[in-house]
Amino acid sequence: MSAFGAGLAIWLLGAGMCHSAAVLNVLCGVDEAWCAAMQAAYEQQSGRKIDMMRKSTGEILDEIRAGRGDPVVDVWWGGTGDTHLQAAAEGLLAPYTPDNAADLLPWARNFHSLSGGQSIGVYAGALGFAYNQDLLAARGLPAPTCWNDLTNPAYRGLIQIANPSSSGTAFTALATLIQLFGEDEAFAYLGRLDRNIAEYTKSGAAPVKAAARGETLIGISFIHDAVTQKQAGSPLVIVAPCEGTGYEIGAVSLVRGARHLEEAQRFVAFALSPEGQATGAAAGQNQVPANARAALPLAAPDISLIRMVDYDFATFGSPDQRSRLLRRFANEIRLIN
Ligand code: F6P
Repeated sequence: MSAFGAGLAIWLLGAGMCHSAAVLNVLCGVDEAWCAAMQAAYEQQSGRKIDMMRKSTGEILDEIRAGRGDPVVDVWWGGTGDTHLQAAAEGLLAPYTPDNAADLLPWARNFHSLSGGQSIGVYAGALGFAYNQDLLAARGLPAPTCWNDLTNPAYRGLIQIANPSSSGTAFTALATLIQLFGEDEAFAYLGRLDRNIAEYTKSGAAPVKAAARGETLIGISFIHDAVTQKQAGSPLVIVAPCEGTGYEIGAVSLVRGARHLEEAQRFVAFALSPEGQATGAAAGQNQVPANARAALPLAAPDISLIRMVDYDFATFGSPDQRSRLLRRFANEIRLIN
């Protein structure tokens, strides 16, 4: 064999190994504890190993964009639905309808239609904030109950929220405030809130985890993430803001051009089955499951009791809106690297 032929053979072998040796690759947008529980449950049920890594929603979108045309990622499981819709609109996802679609609650099925059949609602949860009541008492501060309370100068440097570029939670907060107050007033509000923000975290649940540990007074996150911290014994008071709030539909999607398409479909089917959905509660998570046959986690917040905006997934799921709003946030509120 010529040197060229040998080189080509080695290259082909390398390329082939790269494509065939890899196992199903899942990017996971929920809490690490749930990612691990889901991986273990799926591997046990299927008898096959998979790769799974936790990332925040915006980071997953960036990674799937980077793999366009030759993706390494097969499944995007979890993370806020707005961003799955943005990926669908950019042609990054593949259509899929699970066999058990009829068992899904109406919001999960509507979300599937809205995505053009390319993403499915897998859980839901409301946005809010939580404060550490021991710290609040020690500092003799008033208890916040509304979004507007959070701009009180008494809380200077005492609040955390995530970065809306990396975090689906923080993008949901941005979209929620716009839907509650109108866009210009929401940005004026975010400017006032910014004076009180000690840190914009990468992940959306980090602020309530920091409040639970007493590292910050107030964390803005999804209420279900605060419930998980409170269940673990932390002195958090959880607030559904008085003006009303927004919510997420957490979603699951197949990546267009996935190398392991059939297994990816099996994984998604498992994630939507009562057994797959139960992995959330087993891992201490408190979102509302999409499958009507799945049990609600015992401590899951009753979202029907929370004053909620009629969240506009079509608008905030559009890639143009997302990039425009993130640019405006970077220009007017804070540029975060
Ligand atoms: O911790 C779980 C969770 O809040 C999910 O409900 C949500 O979809 C996801 O995290 C959002 O994470 P991030 O804000 O880091 O993108």
